[in-house]
Amino acid sequence: MSCAKKTTGLSRAKIEELKSKIEKIPRLLLIQEPTPFHRLAALSARFPGTDIWMKRDDLTGLAFGGNKSRKLEYIISDALKKGADTIVTWGSLQSNWCLQTAAAARRAGLRSVLILFRAPDQPVEADGNLFLDLLVGAETRFVEAQPGKVVSLEKALSYLEAAAEEIRSRGGSPYLAPVGGSMPSGSMTLPLGAIAYVRALIEAVEQAKRGNLDIGAIIHATGSGGTQAGLVVGAKALGLDLKVLGVSVSEDRASFAPLVLDICRRTEDALGIEPRVGPEDVVVLDEYLGAGYGFVDGAVAAALAGIFREEAVVLDPVYTAKAMVGLDDRARRGLLPHGRAVVFFHTGGTPALFPCRRRILELAPDAALSEPRSTSGT
Ligand SMILES: Cc1ncc(COP(=O)(O)O)c(C=O)c1O
Repeated sequence: MSCAKKTTGLSRAKIEELKSKIEKIPRLLLIQEPTPFHRLAALSARFPGTDIWMKRDDLTGLAFGGNKSRKLEYIISDALKKGADTIVTWGSLQSNWCLQTAAAARRAGLRSVLILFRAPDQPVEADGNLFLDLLVGAETRFVEAQPGKVVSLEKALSYLEAAAEEIRSRGGSPYLAPVGGSMPSGSMTLPLGAIAYVRALIEAVEQAKRGNLDIGAIIHATGSGGTQAGLVVGAKALGLDLKVLGVSVSEDRASFAPLVLDICRRTEDALGIEPRVGPEDVVVLDEYLGAGYGFVDGAVAAALAGIFREEAVVLDPVYTAKAMVGLDDRARRGLLPHGRAVVFFHTGGTPALFPCRRRILELAPDAALSEPRSTSGT
Protein backbone atom coordinates (compact mmCIF):
# COMPACT_ATOMS: atom_id res chain seq x y z
CA MET A 1 0.00 0.00 0.00
CA SER A 2 1.35 3.44 -0.94
CA CYS A 3 1.78 5.87 1.94
CA ALA A 4 2.47 8.82 -0.34
CA LYS A 5 1.23 12.12 1.07
CA LYS A 6 -0.93 14.93 -0.15
CA THR A 7 0.76 18.33 -0.39
CA THR A 8 -1.56 19.64 2.30
CA GLY A 9 -0.57 16.88 4.73
CA LEU A 10 3.18 17.40 4.39
CA SER A 11 4.95 18.29 7.61
CA ARG A 12 7.12 21.37 8.03
CA ALA A 13 9.90 19.13 9.40
CA LYS A 14 10.02 17.06 6.21
CA ILE A 15 10.37 20.19 4.07
CA GLU A 16 13.05 21.65 6.34
CA GLU A 17 15.01 18.39 6.25
CA LEU A 18 15.21 18.48 2.44
CA LYS A 19 15.94 22.21 2.40
CA SER A 20 18.88 21.73 4.77
CA LYS A 21 20.46 19.25 2.34
CA ILE A 22 20.10 21.64 -0.58
CA GLU A 23 21.46 24.55 1.42
CA LYS A 24 24.84 22.80 1.63
CA ILE A 25 25.33 23.51 -2.09
CA PRO A 26 26.54 27.10 -2.66
CA ARG A 27 24.20 29.37 -4.60
CA LEU A 28 24.50 32.87 -6.00
CA LEU A 29 21.28 34.85 -5.72
CA LEU A 30 20.16 35.78 -9.22
CA ILE A 31 16.38 35.54 -9.20
CA GLN A 32 13.36 37.11 -7.57
CA GLU A 33 11.75 34.38 -5.53
CA PRO A 34 9.31 32.90 -5.02
CA THR A 35 8.21 33.18 -8.63
CA PRO A 36 4.45 33.84 -8.92
CA PHE A 37 1.99 30.98 -8.62
CA HIS A 38 -1.54 31.57 -9.82
CA ARG A 39 -4.66 29.83 -11.00
CA LEU A 40 -5.62 29.62 -14.68
CA ALA A 41 -9.34 30.19 -14.23
CA ALA A 42 -10.41 30.27 -17.88
CA LEU A 43 -8.38 27.19 -18.78
CA SER A 44 -9.74 25.29 -15.75
CA ALA A 45 -13.29 26.26 -16.76
CA ARG A 46 -12.73 24.71 -20.21
CA PHE A 47 -12.23 21.31 -18.56
CA PRO A 48 -14.83 20.88 -15.79
CA GLY A 49 -13.42 19.12 -12.74
CA THR A 50 -9.85 20.35 -13.32
CA ASP A 51 -8.06 22.99 -11.27
CA ILE A 52 -5.11 24.26 -13.28
CA TRP A 53 -2.38 26.49 -11.84
CA MET A 54 0.76 28.02 -13.27
CA LYS A 55 4.20 28.35 -11.68
CA ARG A 56 5.76 31.38 -13.36
CA ASP A 57 9.41 30.54 -13.79
CA ASP A 58 9.27 32.76 -16.86
CA LEU A 59 9.25 35.64 -14.35
CA THR A 60 12.54 35.02 -12.55
CA GLY A 61 13.75 38.57 -13.17
CA LEU A 62 16.95 37.51 -14.97
CA ALA A 63 16.79 38.78 -18.58
CA PHE A 64 13.52 37.34 -19.96
CA GLY A 65 13.42 34.67 -17.25
CA GLY A 66 13.07 30.92 -17.53
CA ASN A 67 14.08 27.68 -15.85
CA LYS A 68 17.74 28.28 -16.64
CA SER A 69 17.89 31.26 -14.25
CA ARG A 70 17.44 28.89 -11.33
CA LYS A 71 20.05 26.46 -12.61
CA LEU A 72 22.55 29.27 -13.15
CA GLU A 73 22.36 30.35 -9.50
CA TYR A 74 24.28 27.17 -8.72
CA ILE A 75 26.37 26.96 -11.88
CA ILE A 76 27.72 30.52 -11.77
CA SER A 77 28.46 30.05 -8.08
CA ASP A 78 30.43 26.90 -8.97
CA ALA A 79 32.31 28.81 -11.70
CA LEU A 80 33.25 31.59 -9.26
CA LYS A 81 34.39 29.05 -6.68
CA LYS A 82 36.61 27.46 -9.34
CA GLY A 83 38.17 30.83 -10.19
CA ALA A 84 36.69 31.14 -13.69
CA ASP A 85 36.47 34.44 -15.52
CA THR A 86 34.64 33.19 -18.63
CA ILE A 87 31.71 30.79 -19.05
CA VAL A 88 31.87 28.76 -22.25
CA THR A 89 28.73 26.92 -23.32
CA TRP A 90 26.73 25.83 -26.32
CA GLY A 91 23.25 25.50 -27.70
CA SER A 92 21.16 26.13 -30.80
CA LEU A 93 21.07 29.50 -32.56
CA GLN A 94 17.97 30.51 -30.56
CA SER A 95 19.07 28.85 -27.31
CA ASN A 96 17.30 30.13 -24.19
CA TRP A 97 20.05 28.53 -22.12
CA CYS A 98 22.78 30.50 -23.88
CA LEU A 99 21.05 33.85 -23.36
CA GLN A 100 20.38 33.11 -19.70
CA THR A 101 24.01 32.04 -19.25
CA ALA A 102 25.31 35.22 -20.87
CA ALA A 103 23.02 37.38 -18.71
CA ALA A 104 23.86 35.53 -15.48
CA ALA A 105 27.58 35.72 -16.29
CA ARG A 106 27.29 39.49 -16.69
CA ARG A 107 25.54 39.82 -13.34
CA ALA A 108 28.48 38.02 -11.75
CA GLY A 109 31.07 40.10 -13.63
CA LEU A 110 32.12 37.21 -15.90
CA ARG A 111 32.46 36.98 -19.68
CA SER A 112 30.70 34.40 -21.81
CA VAL A 113 31.53 32.58 -25.03
CA LEU A 114 28.58 30.92 -26.77
CA ILE A 115 29.05 28.19 -29.39
CA LEU A 116 25.83 28.31 -31.39
CA PHE A 117 24.94 25.43 -33.69
CA ARG A 118 22.82 26.12 -36.75
CA ALA A 119 21.51 24.22 -39.75
CA PRO A 120 23.35 25.05 -43.02
CA ASP A 121 20.31 26.90 -44.39
CA GLN A 122 19.52 28.72 -41.13
CA PRO A 123 20.26 32.43 -41.45
CA VAL A 124 22.20 34.12 -38.65
CA GLU A 125 19.86 36.99 -37.88
CA ALA A 126 20.08 39.24 -34.84
CA ASP A 127 16.60 38.31 -33.65
CA GLY A 128 15.06 36.76 -30.52
CA ASN A 129 17.63 35.23 -28.18
CA LEU A 130 20.53 35.83 -30.56
CA PHE A 131 19.76 39.55 -30.67
CA LEU A 132 19.84 39.57 -26.85
CA ASP A 133 23.07 37.51 -26.76
CA LEU A 134 24.71 40.22 -28.86
CA LEU A 135 23.17 43.05 -26.85
CA VAL A 136 24.42 41.64 -23.54
CA GLY A 137 27.91 41.41 -25.03
CA ALA A 138 28.40 37.64 -25.27
CA GLU A 139 31.08 36.40 -27.67
CA THR A 140 29.25 34.27 -30.22
CA ARG A 141 30.67 31.61 -32.54
CA PHE A 142 28.56 29.85 -35.14
CA VAL A 143 29.03 26.23 -36.10
CA GLU A 144 27.10 24.29 -38.74
CA ALA A 145 25.26 21.22 -37.54
CA GLN A 146 23.33 18.52 -39.36
CA PRO A 147 19.71 19.60 -39.74
CA GLY A 148 17.22 17.69 -37.58
CA LYS A 149 19.98 15.96 -35.58
CA VAL A 150 20.89 16.63 -31.97
CA VAL A 151 24.55 17.68 -31.70
CA SER A 152 26.47 14.98 -29.84
CA LEU A 153 28.06 15.81 -26.51
CA GLU A 154 31.47 14.75 -27.88
CA LYS A 155 31.19 17.11 -30.82
CA ALA A 156 30.02 20.01 -28.65
CA LEU A 157 32.77 19.38 -26.08
CA SER A 158 35.42 19.43 -28.80
CA TYR A 159 34.33 22.98 -29.77
CA LEU A 160 34.11 23.98 -26.11
CA GLU A 161 37.61 22.63 -25.45
CA ALA A 162 39.03 24.55 -28.43
CA ALA A 163 37.45 27.79 -27.16
CA ALA A 164 38.69 27.04 -23.63
CA GLU A 165 42.23 26.50 -24.92
CA GLU A 166 42.15 29.89 -26.62
CA ILE A 167 40.94 31.56 -23.42
CA ARG A 168 43.69 29.88 -21.40
CA SER A 169 46.33 30.98 -23.93
CA ARG A 170 45.17 34.59 -23.36
CA GLY A 171 45.66 34.08 -19.61
CA GLY A 172 41.95 33.59 -18.90
CA SER A 173 40.21 30.93 -16.88
CA PRO A 174 37.25 29.20 -18.62
CA TYR A 175 34.37 27.24 -17.06
CA LEU A 176 32.78 24.76 -19.47
CA ALA A 177 29.07 24.52 -18.81
CA PRO A 178 26.95 21.71 -20.29
CA VAL A 179 23.99 22.55 -22.50
CA GLY A 180 20.86 23.19 -20.44
CA GLY A 181 22.90 22.90 -17.22
CA SER A 182 21.55 19.37 -16.73
CA MET A 183 23.92 16.43 -17.22
CA PRO A 184 27.28 16.91 -15.46
CA SER A 185 30.09 17.33 -18.01
CA GLY A 186 32.85 19.85 -18.77
CA SER A 187 33.61 21.80 -15.56
CA MET A 188 30.28 20.94 -13.89
CA THR A 189 30.69 17.79 -11.84
CA LEU A 190 27.40 17.84 -9.90
CA PRO A 191 23.87 17.91 -11.40
CA LEU A 192 23.48 21.55 -10.35
CA GLY A 193 20.56 22.30 -12.67
CA ALA A 194 18.49 19.46 -11.23
CA ILE A 195 19.37 20.51 -7.68
CA ALA A 196 17.94 23.94 -8.53
CA TYR A 197 14.68 22.22 -9.49
CA VAL A 198 14.47 20.24 -6.27
CA ARG A 199 14.49 23.68 -4.70
CA ALA A 200 11.83 24.92 -7.15
CA LEU A 201 9.61 21.95 -6.26
CA ILE A 202 9.82 22.88 -2.59
CA GLU A 203 8.97 26.49 -3.46
CA ALA A 204 5.84 25.43 -5.38
CA VAL A 205 4.80 23.00 -2.64
CA GLU A 206 5.10 25.73 -0.01
CA GLN A 207 2.97 28.06 -2.14
CA ALA A 208 0.37 25.33 -2.60
CA LYS A 209 0.33 24.54 1.11
CA ARG A 210 -0.27 28.20 1.96
CA GLY A 211 -3.35 28.11 -0.30
CA ASN A 212 -4.47 24.75 1.14
CA LEU A 213 -4.02 23.23 -2.30
CA ASP A 214 -3.22 19.61 -3.00
CA ILE A 215 -1.04 19.13 -6.10
CA GLY A 216 -1.91 15.96 -8.03
CA ALA A 217 0.30 16.57 -11.08
CA ILE A 218 2.96 18.85 -12.47
CA ILE A 219 3.32 19.22 -16.22
CA HIS A 220 6.21 20.94 -17.99
CA ALA A 221 8.43 20.90 -21.09
CA THR A 222 11.46 18.64 -20.89
CA GLY A 223 14.54 19.11 -23.08
CA SER A 224 17.89 18.30 -21.46
CA GLY A 225 16.25 16.62 -18.46
CA GLY A 226 17.45 18.64 -15.46
CA THR A 227 14.16 20.35 -14.70
CA GLN A 228 12.25 17.08 -14.76
CA ALA A 229 14.89 15.26 -12.71
CA GLY A 230 14.84 17.93 -10.01
CA LEU A 231 11.04 17.98 -9.78
CA VAL A 232 10.87 14.18 -9.59
CA VAL A 233 13.62 13.91 -6.96
CA GLY A 234 11.97 16.63 -4.88
CA ALA A 235 8.54 15.02 -5.02
CA LYS A 236 9.92 11.59 -4.11
CA ALA A 237 12.15 12.88 -1.33
CA LEU A 238 9.14 14.58 0.25
CA GLY A 239 7.10 11.41 -0.18
CA LEU A 240 4.41 13.20 -2.17
CA ASP A 241 1.59 11.56 -4.06
CA LEU A 242 2.26 13.65 -7.15
CA LYS A 243 2.99 12.79 -10.80
CA VAL A 244 5.53 14.79 -12.78
CA LEU A 245 4.71 14.74 -16.49
CA GLY A 246 7.54 15.82 -18.78
CA VAL A 247 6.41 16.77 -22.27
CA SER A 248 9.35 16.03 -24.54
CA VAL A 249 10.22 18.63 -27.16
CA SER A 250 12.92 16.69 -28.98
CA GLU A 251 13.56 13.10 -27.90
CA ASP A 252 11.53 9.91 -27.85
CA ARG A 253 10.61 8.33 -24.53
CA ALA A 254 12.80 5.24 -24.94
CA SER A 255 16.03 7.18 -25.39
CA PHE A 256 15.24 10.11 -23.09
CA ALA A 257 13.71 8.55 -19.94
CA PRO A 258 16.94 6.68 -18.97
CA LEU A 259 18.87 9.94 -19.23
CA VAL A 260 16.43 11.69 -16.88
CA LEU A 261 16.63 8.73 -14.49
CA ASP A 262 20.43 8.98 -14.54
CA ILE A 263 20.25 12.69 -13.60
CA CYS A 264 17.74 11.81 -10.83
CA ARG A 265 20.14 9.26 -9.33
CA ARG A 266 23.09 11.65 -9.50
CA THR A 267 20.94 14.32 -7.82
CA GLU A 268 19.91 12.03 -4.97
CA ASP A 269 23.54 11.08 -4.54
CA ALA A 270 24.79 14.69 -4.61
CA LEU A 271 22.24 15.70 -1.97
CA GLY A 272 22.89 12.66 0.18
CA ILE A 273 19.28 11.52 0.12
CA GLU A 274 18.04 7.98 0.08
CA PRO A 275 17.60 6.78 -3.54
CA ARG A 276 13.87 6.59 -4.12
CA VAL A 277 13.35 7.39 -7.79
CA GLY A 278 12.64 4.41 -10.04
CA PRO A 279 11.96 4.14 -13.79
CA GLU A 280 8.20 4.30 -13.10
CA ASP A 281 8.61 7.84 -11.71
CA VAL A 282 10.08 9.23 -14.91
CA VAL A 283 7.12 9.96 -17.18
CA VAL A 284 8.17 11.29 -20.57
CA LEU A 285 5.31 12.12 -22.94
CA ASP A 286 6.66 12.02 -26.49
CA GLU A 287 3.38 12.12 -28.36
CA TYR A 288 3.41 15.91 -28.70
CA LEU A 289 6.69 16.17 -30.62
CA GLY A 290 4.89 17.00 -33.87
CA ALA A 291 7.40 17.31 -36.70
CA GLY A 292 10.27 17.69 -34.22
CA TYR A 293 12.31 20.15 -32.20
CA GLY A 294 11.38 23.77 -32.81
CA PHE A 295 8.79 23.01 -35.47
CA VAL A 296 5.81 25.33 -35.18
CA ASP A 297 2.61 23.64 -36.31
CA GLY A 298 -1.07 24.52 -36.00
CA ALA A 299 -1.39 22.98 -32.53
CA VAL A 300 1.54 25.04 -31.19
CA ALA A 301 0.19 28.25 -32.74
CA ALA A 302 -3.30 27.58 -31.35
CA ALA A 303 -1.88 26.93 -27.86
CA LEU A 304 0.12 30.16 -27.98
CA ALA A 305 -2.85 32.23 -29.12
CA GLY A 306 -5.33 30.42 -26.86
CA ILE A 307 -3.46 30.93 -23.57
CA PHE A 308 -2.55 34.51 -24.46
CA ARG A 309 -6.19 35.33 -25.20
CA GLU A 310 -7.67 33.43 -22.23
CA GLU A 311 -5.09 34.06 -19.55
CA ALA A 312 -2.89 36.92 -20.85
CA VAL A 313 0.13 34.62 -20.46
CA VAL A 314 2.75 34.49 -23.21
CA LEU A 315 4.22 31.05 -23.91
CA ASP A 316 7.19 30.23 -26.14
CA PRO A 317 6.92 28.29 -29.42
CA VAL A 318 9.57 25.61 -28.78
CA TYR A 319 8.96 24.40 -25.21
CA THR A 320 6.04 25.73 -23.21
CA ALA A 321 3.50 25.81 -26.07
CA LYS A 322 4.25 22.15 -26.76
CA ALA A 323 3.78 21.36 -23.07
CA MET A 324 0.48 23.23 -23.22
CA VAL A 325 -0.59 21.14 -26.23
CA GLY A 326 0.09 18.11 -24.00
CA LEU A 327 -1.88 19.54 -21.07
CA ASP A 328 -4.83 20.40 -23.32
CA ASP A 329 -4.91 16.93 -24.86
CA ARG A 330 -4.68 15.16 -21.51
CA ALA A 331 -7.36 17.37 -19.97
CA ARG A 332 -9.65 16.70 -22.96
CA ARG A 333 -9.13 12.94 -22.57
CA GLY A 334 -9.78 13.06 -18.80
CA LEU A 335 -6.21 12.01 -18.02
CA LEU A 336 -5.46 14.75 -15.50
CA PRO A 337 -6.40 14.43 -11.84
CA HIS A 338 -9.81 15.78 -10.92
CA GLY A 339 -10.39 17.53 -7.59
CA ARG A 340 -6.65 18.13 -7.16
CA ALA A 341 -4.46 20.89 -8.56
CA VAL A 342 -2.52 20.47 -11.79
CA VAL A 343 0.50 22.77 -11.95
CA PHE A 344 1.91 23.87 -15.30
CA PHE A 345 5.53 25.03 -14.87
CA HIS A 346 6.12 27.93 -17.27
CA THR A 347 9.80 27.50 -17.99
CA GLY A 348 10.29 30.67 -20.08
CA GLY A 349 11.80 30.93 -23.54
CA THR A 350 9.63 33.79 -24.79
CA PRO A 351 12.34 35.62 -26.83
CA ALA A 352 12.18 32.72 -29.32
CA LEU A 353 8.67 33.86 -30.28
CA PHE A 354 9.95 36.70 -32.38
CA PRO A 355 11.98 34.83 -35.02
CA CYS A 356 8.90 32.58 -35.48
CA ARG A 357 6.38 35.39 -35.69
CA ARG A 358 5.46 35.03 -39.38
CA ARG A 359 4.71 31.34 -39.12
CA ILE A 360 2.76 31.77 -35.88
CA LEU A 361 0.63 34.54 -37.42
CA GLU A 362 -0.09 32.36 -40.46
CA LEU A 363 -1.21 29.45 -38.32
CA ALA A 364 -2.88 31.02 -35.28
CA PRO A 365 -6.64 31.43 -35.60
CA ASP A 366 -7.70 34.99 -36.51
CA ALA A 367 -4.21 36.39 -36.18
CA ALA A 368 -3.01 36.84 -39.75
CA LEU A 369 -1.97 40.34 -40.66
CA SER A 370 -4.47 41.53 -43.25
CA GLU A 371 -3.12 43.30 -46.33
CA PRO A 372 -2.92 47.03 -45.70
CA ARG A 373 -5.93 48.59 -47.43
CA SER A 374 -5.19 50.92 -50.28
CA THR A 375 -6.06 54.51 -49.48
CA SER A 376 -5.90 55.67 -53.10
CA GLY A 377 -9.04 57.35 -54.30
CA THR A 378 -10.46 57.84 -50.80
C1 LIG B 1 11.94 27.47 -22.20
C2 LIG B 1 12.45 26.13 -21.83
N1 LIG B 1 11.61 25.26 -21.24
C3 LIG B 1 11.99 24.03 -20.89
C4 LIG B 1 13.28 23.59 -21.15
C5 LIG B 1 13.63 22.20 -20.76
O1 LIG B 1 14.34 22.19 -19.57
P1 LIG B 1 15.45 21.08 -19.32
O2 LIG B 1 16.56 21.39 -20.30
O3 LIG B 1 15.85 21.25 -17.92
O4 LIG B 1 14.83 19.78 -19.64
C6 LIG B 1 14.20 24.46 -21.77
C7 LIG B 1 15.57 24.07 -22.10
O5 LIG B 1 15.92 23.13 -22.67
C8 LIG B 1 13.77 25.76 -22.12
O6 LIG B 1 14.59 26.63 -22.72
